[in-house]
Amino acid sequence: MISFSMLSQKGGVGKTTVALNLAFAMAQRGVRTCLVDLDPQGAVGLSLKSGTRKTSGVVGLLAGDAWDRARLETRIPGLSLLTTGDIPPGAIEETHDAWSSLPTIRRLLASMRDVDLALLDTPAGIAGPTRAAAQATGRVLVPLQCEPLSLRTVPAVLASIANWRSGGHDVSVLGLLLTMTGFRDEHALAVLEEAWALYPSLALETHIPRDVAFARASALGVPVALQASRPPPVATIFDRLAAELEPRLGLDEKEADDAPRYLLD
Ligand SMILES: Nc1ncnc2c1ncn2[C@@H]1O[C@H](COP(=O)(O)OP(=O)(O)O)[C@@H](O)[C@H]1O
Ligand SMILES: [Mg+2]
Repeated sequence: MISFSMLSQKGGVGKTTVALNLAFAMAQRGVRTCLVDLDPQGAVGLSLKSGTRKTSGVVGLLAGDAWDRARLETRIPGLSLLTTGDIPPGAIEETHDAWSSLPTIRRLLASMRDVDLALLDTPAGIAGPTRAAAQATGRVLVPLQCEPLSLRTVPAVLASIANWRSGGHDVSVLGLLLTMTGFRDEHALAVLEEAWALYPSLALETHIPRDVAFARASALGVPVALQASRPPPVATIFDRLAAELEPRLGLDEKEADDAPRYLLD
């Protein structure tokens, strides 16, 4: 199983939105994907509403539940969710501390079955569960909200990762992903160009435009591609992002049945 985690110092940059939509896109591309909600505030779980209660999530899995009791299969083939599970309001801090332990997150990953890719959504900040997730998966996707000063936070993120590496934790950056970019907005283009110039190998070509469709999809608790029978144009961005990340994840290795599919017999 391959895994990576989301990492951002700031909240509200689109981590959860990217994680959910990217997990969906990966599953559509035939990668059996499990989206894991490691944010004790439960952003992914909350947005998915009633169906989440049937399974015990991260809390259950760590307490010894079988994988099939913990994970939630979705209606999308190949997409499953590991929600936070039931965290009483008074236990949020305690849960946050428990999930900050690297051996705990390693044990979580080791309990997962029948999954090609585990995508860990994390709380904001670089410590706590986010650090444990980064060190356990060894790869981080770093969303940056597209605004003039956002690239100034990158050196601090890279320095923390370098520190972890010198402490013996092999963590690398899967990519820097600019989010909430403006369509045809010259300031957004300037930030993108600066990102590509400063971090040519880290800054992804794909970026996520600011679009009202995301707010609508969040309110419905669905990936943006599923909010209507004809998905809005931004929905295609995540297929592109998935395709860009696959080689970085080693998911592009040729499979036995990876032949062209002809239109006619
Ligand atoms: N590309 C986007 N365009 C418009 N709104 C967005 C976009 N990405 C996220 N949002 C909205 O911004 C808010 C924060 O996004 P979220 O993914 O929850 O961030 P985080 O997980 O980093 O806190 C949500 O209301 C979400 O619907
Ligand atoms: Mg979030």
